[in-house]
Amino acid sequence: MQTESKNPVRWGVLSTASIATKVARAINLSQNAELVAIASRTEERAAAWAQKHNVPIAYGNYDALLSDSSLDAIYIPLPPSMHAEWTIRAAEHGKHVLCEKPLSANFDEATMMADACRQNGVQLMDGVMWVHHERTAMMKEQLTNLGELRRVTAAFTFNWGTIPTNNIRAKPELAGGSLGDLGYYCVRAILWAFEEMPTRVFATARYKVGVDFSLAGILWFEDDRIATLDCGFDTGLRRWFEVAGTNASLVCDDFTVPTSEESSRFWIHGSENEKHETGACIQEVNMVERFSGIVQSDNLEPEWVDVAVNTMRVCDALRESDQRGEIVSL
Ligand SMILES: NC(=O)c1ccc[n+]([C@@H]2O[C@H](COP(=O)([O-])OP(=O)(O)OC[C@H]3O[C@@H](n4cnc5c(N)ncnc54)[C@H](OP(=O)(O)O)[C@@H]3O)[C@@H](O)[C@H]2O)c1
Repeated sequence: MQTESKNPVRWGVLSTASIATKVARAINLSQNAELVAIASRTEERAAAWAQKHNVPIAYGNYDALLSDSSLDAIYIPLPPSMHAEWTIRAAEHGKHVLCEKPLSANFDEATMMADACRQNGVQLMDGVMWVHHERTAMMKEQLTNLGELRRVTAAFTFNWGTIPTNNIRAKPELAGGSLGDLGYYCVRAILWAFEEMPTRVFATARYKVGVDFSLAGILWFEDDRIATLDCGFDTGLRRWFEVAGTNASLVCDDFTVPTSEESSRFWIHGSENEKHETGACIQEVNMVERFSGIVQSDNLEPEWVDVAVNTMRVCDALRESDQRGEIVSL
């Protein structure tokens, strides 16, 4: 039986960011998406990027891309301080928005972005890719076999050695810092496992060049559940979480980006240790196809907005706790 074929979703990319190369490949590999336009702050950069990635249209400023009525969806990989402004502008142009993480510089901005997208009838999703991997669905099923869930621990770090002061992550004015860049993923893993907001949080951070360079946090939940996270630019690469229940625990040691696109793995540690493996999967292709499917269906999925806004709410509470030096209630 033939299914009705829908037009591919027409994508525009707002800036020639490093991560845009990965997502451009994903759009090109997706079954229901087409990469149509790129915008940069300069015409030269836009044209060079368009040629390299085989993109038909190049704009020398961001406004021109948003005014292109042929585009359905905009991917925004700008520095975090610019996410709110350009998401809201894109929504006002009637464009669906896939915005990079962290969703925004703070919770208030996240709320404004969510409101603007809702009012204009467009989808908003953040660029957290691992939640779209097939492994994530497999791990979710396994959580029910762990007994009552008690703990989540999550870490995401890498080591800069010498601080690249030109990097957006090292710039306070662009909302840099390790919590937004790395801790955001850990918070998402904790919310994913417990499916609830924490009641209280505590965090302590170390600052360098004006941004939180590393941070450790504790999150308390109802029903004897607790989570801890750490993130930072000062420790070798770690990107793992453990979800522990009353009977067993699940460990994933590369949750943000699986080591291979050909297969991925996780472990259940109980009375015996089991290694689980998945087949080939490119998580960013799944993300683009999922988003494009929502656009094609015209049936918005508010849960993507809610989880991104909630992630920002928890990040804000962790930041506030560090600044006040005390536990913050949510
Ligand atoms: N989901 C993921 O796996 C993932 C991975 C990496 C990064 N990210 C996120 O993606 C976003 C971009 O990260 P990135 O590492 O790709 O950044 P990047 O390479 O520094 O790119 C940021 C882009 O923003 C534009 N821009 C506009 N104003 C700017 C300013 N004042 N300073 C610097 N750049 C400015 C520039 O593009 P033009 O010059 O072309 O205008 C620049 O290329 C961040 O939010 C980051 O957290 C997500």
